Amino acid sequence: MDWGLKNRLSRIIKPETGRTVMLAVDHGYFLGPTSGLEVIADTVQPLLQHADSLMLTRGALRTSVPPDFDIPIVLRVSGGTSILHEDLSNEDITTSMDEAIKLNASAVAISIFVGSAHEKETLTNLARLVTEGEACGIPVLAVTAVGREMTRDKKYLSLCCRIAAELGAHFVKTYYCDDFAEVVGTCPVPIVIAGGKKISEKDALKLAHNAISNGAVGVDMGRNIFQSDHPVGMIKAVRAIVHENVKVEEAYKLYRKSG
Ligand code: R5P
Repeated sequence: MDWGLKNRLSRIIKPETGRTVMLAVDHGYFLGPTSGLEVIADTVQPLLQHADSLMLTRGALRTSVPPDFDIPIVLRVSGGTSILHEDLSNEDITTSMDEAIKLNASAVAISIFVGSAHEKETLTNLARLVTEGEACGIPVLAVTAVGREMTRDKKYLSLCCRIAAELGAHFVKTYYCDDFAEVVGTCPVPIVIAGGKKISEKDALKLAHNAISNGAVGVDMGRNIFQSDHPVGMIKAVRAIVHENVKVEEAYKLYRKSG
């Protein structure tokens, strides 16, 4: 890994704790104006100061994030399908590395769909993106998307994470599952977890705590933050778990206090 790539990665995974709270607001790239993200700027701006990085598309970035706000950007660069299509795996790369540089991205993110109809294309897109990213010092986050027919278990997620790392991803985003330590243990690059569909605040905090306790370096959480009744309280509580190792009850109190 060259200096620039390591430097960008260290803007996201904080050297002080070795951990990260990434805020994911890229959902619109296939879900459109999903609940909580109807007006991206309104949702994102109060949360920016509490996030270690922001994951989103170029369109959301240009229109909804002030360019003078210093936050590392993880630019989603895959897409091409919508929720109306049965097969979401038919993604391609939607921007270029030149554009990622122009937008001062600290990393780029691409979904892979292991076991789905377009598995091969998504995996070779990842490999190509890694080659291009390494040529200009930009790390690549592989997102292990789970098709409707797949099960989010240790066997499947270990397979996805390991393939992503072997193809050169610099870090991987996946889902939490039982025996998660084994998913982490067999993946040679850092793992962050997605929050998934909105669940109760306490359950989402438990999820973050379990993931961190089992070796994740952080979260790349969206709906369980921005769809919360108190998104700022929620991101502060998640931060306390990720960076300060606080217990779930204590984090929950923080969430309640900020509400
Ligand atoms: C999905 O492909 C997107 O990357 C989402 O941003 C991701 O799933 C994380 O968001 P959430 O915590 O809402 O699952």
